[in-house]
Amino acid sequence: MTPYKRCMTDYMTMTADMPVTRSAAIKLYDETGFAGMRKAGRLAAEILDALVPHVVPGVTTGELDDIVRAMTLDGGGVPATLGYRGYTHSCCTSLNNVICHGIPGDYRLKDGDILNIDVTPLVDGWHGDSSRMYVAGETSIKARRLIEVTYECLMLGIEQAKPGNHLGDIGHVIQRHAEKHRYGVVRDFCGHGLGRVFHDSPEVVHIGRPDTGPELRPGMFFTIEPMINIGKAGVKMLDDGWTAVTRDRSLSAQFEHSIGITETGCEIFTRSPTGLDCPPYGA
Ligand code: MF3
Ligand code: CO
Ligand code: CO
Repeated sequence: MTPYKRCMTDYMTMTADMPVTRSAAIKLYDETGFAGMRKAGRLAAEILDALVPHVVPGVTTGELDDIVRAMTLDGGGVPATLGYRGYTHSCCTSLNNVICHGIPGDYRLKDGDILNIDVTPLVDGWHGDSSRMYVAGETSIKARRLIEVTYECLMLGIEQAKPGNHLGDIGHVIQRHAEKHRYGVVRDFCGHGLGRVFHDSPEVVHIGRPDTGPELRPGMFFTIEPMINIGKAGVKMLDDGWTAVTRDRSLSAQFEHSIGITETGCEIFTRSPTGLDCPPYGA
């Protein structure tokens, strides 16, 4: 991976009859794609909204996964993670020092835990990928500040998502904001193109330099999903092959939106319809 290198980029204009395959070229979708992503993104946001009252001390991450699965199916979708590369759950639940891809199970949340829930409903062939942070009960000022700054990182990145800008502009503002707070930006996982494919080109890294990387064009769909650690950026993988934790055991936070580049900026497909984009979510 050479995220800093300026390179020639191929673009591929999608038509309705094109096959659903991953490609190196960045796909450019038309209004049909925007309509599909709007619907899938809306369901992702509604699921994340509905989880708010359930993320309390005493609930297990497996119970939260059951809610995600039921709501996804009720909403006319299928969890894209079910059966994805051998993953058997409907969402990822990443707790405290878990960076991403935490597996739901028997763990019972306790007061002060912070949790990322990442959902990806597949609706009519379109992927709506989004995650938010949740707090069980009350947590420390330190953890709350991490969550707030991580959300700011996502939204600063999204501000840079407009035609004529480059992917490196997004990574740059995220890195600058996180490092201003002396946080570590995770390098080992990145955002990704998506649409009819779950994980497609381009790789959206959360560090970078202005004016580098592929130029953004209307019709590009991708996620921005910064993972920010209170401590260093280093990652350790657990033996389950999925769970990524901070090497120094520090707390980690993440938010994710799926967006589409428009003529004038971008459309956020996964924004909360009820304003529950970032904690505190209120009583
Ligand atoms: N939703 C994750 C992402 O943001 C991917 C999870 S894949 C899984 O890209 F298999 F770990 F669920
Ligand atoms: Co994603
Ligand atoms: Co996700």
